[in-house]
Amino acid sequence: MKAIRVHGPGGPEALRYEEIEQPVPGPGQVLVKVEAAGVNFIDVYQRSGHYKVPVPFTLGQEAAGAVAAVGPGVAEPKLGERVAYTTVLGAYAEYAVVPADRVVQLPDGVSAKQGAAAMLQGLTAHYLATTTYALKAGEACLVHAAAGGVGLLLCQIAKLRGARVLGTVSTREKAALARGAGADEVILYTEQDFETEVKRLTNGAGLQVIYDSVGKTTFERGLSCLALRGMMVLYGQSSGPVGPFDPQVLNQKGSLFLTRPTIAHYIATRAELIARAGEVLGWIQRGMLKVRIDRELPLAQAAEAHRLLEARQSMGKVLLIP
Ligand SMILES: NC(=O)c1ccc[n+]([C@@H]2O[C@H](COP(=O)([O-])OP(=O)(O)OC[C@H]3O[C@@H](n4cnc5c(N)ncnc54)[C@H](OP(=O)(O)O)[C@@H]3O)[C@@H](O)[C@H]2O)c1
Repeated sequence: MKAIRVHGPGGPEALRYEEIEQPVPGPGQVLVKVEAAGVNFIDVYQRSGHYKVPVPFTLGQEAAGAVAAVGPGVAEPKLGERVAYTTVLGAYAEYAVVPADRVVQLPDGVSAKQGAAAMLQGLTAHYLATTTYALKAGEACLVHAAAGGVGLLLCQIAKLRGARVLGTVSTREKAALARGAGADEVILYTEQDFETEVKRLTNGAGLQVIYDSVGKTTFERGLSCLALRGMMVLYGQSSGPVGPFDPQVLNQKGSLFLTRPTIAHYIATRAELIARAGEVLGWIQRGMLKVRIDRELPLAQAAEAHRLLEARQSMGKVLLIP
């Protein structure tokens, strides 16, 4: 089968389209015929060596398709069932072996492409808005990179919970998309000082929570945008890592909370995975949550997909189609 392999850290050119042996599911595993694989920023970090993975490896953390074989002892899912999964390495391929307890069934009416687009970014947006800081009606939140993959979904889920959503984006085109996803106010953080704008838009009251996936260029100023006892949820670093941090700052800025969550810890049990995925895929099925698939590229063009992501050119989801 064909797969995108990494033999050593590097730029997008480190992604090699290769012929490798089709994997065989072992006990407790299933083989998924990948119909669509999601491209995520974590793939960039793993390709570049920022997050260490022993080489060689097949990249990709998210896919959807049909169960093509089941290993010994697997009762569910069944052969042929339409499934999706995330946080298992090896999705940039025609077939992937996945632990049976990590896959979820795709509901009727939700396509494999929607499933592949919703698992990592959708479940992330879900845990951020419903668990890390469980937004309540009337509360004000800031979503950085609001037209990004997680961003567009997070704006919508925050609105479903009745929050007031402020978003930041780099271009006017992205601003229109963020508004379409429900953002009440959109700040062009490449032209305006977002701290000044947040203070103006909240009449100085500040925000209950900031969902920050940008990191280096936004983190510090964000701390000055929070209301007393507000929460900084730093969940990514698309502009680079945040440097060393003095906890005393949290005291000075208003007894703030800081957390650095990751999806794996919010779908650690089968029950939590099923509950989150069930709600997200159910919202998609009922038209309450829109997944914006920005680009579909052939698997062989994975390097191009990475270039788009790193150059801030993606608006929503980028998929690879084997
Ligand atoms: N902790 C978790 O559980 C978790 C889960 C999923 C994703 N993440 C993280 O969340 C972040 C966003 O992920 P995503 O897949 O949804 O990506 P994305 O938002 O679709 O893409 C990243 C966006 O970040 C913004 N950005 C700002 N400065 C940037 C820079 N210097 N270089 C590149 N982009 C920059 C860009 O939006 P503008 O052009 O509008 O600035 C860009 O479109 C990533 O850091 C990812 O690792 C974390």
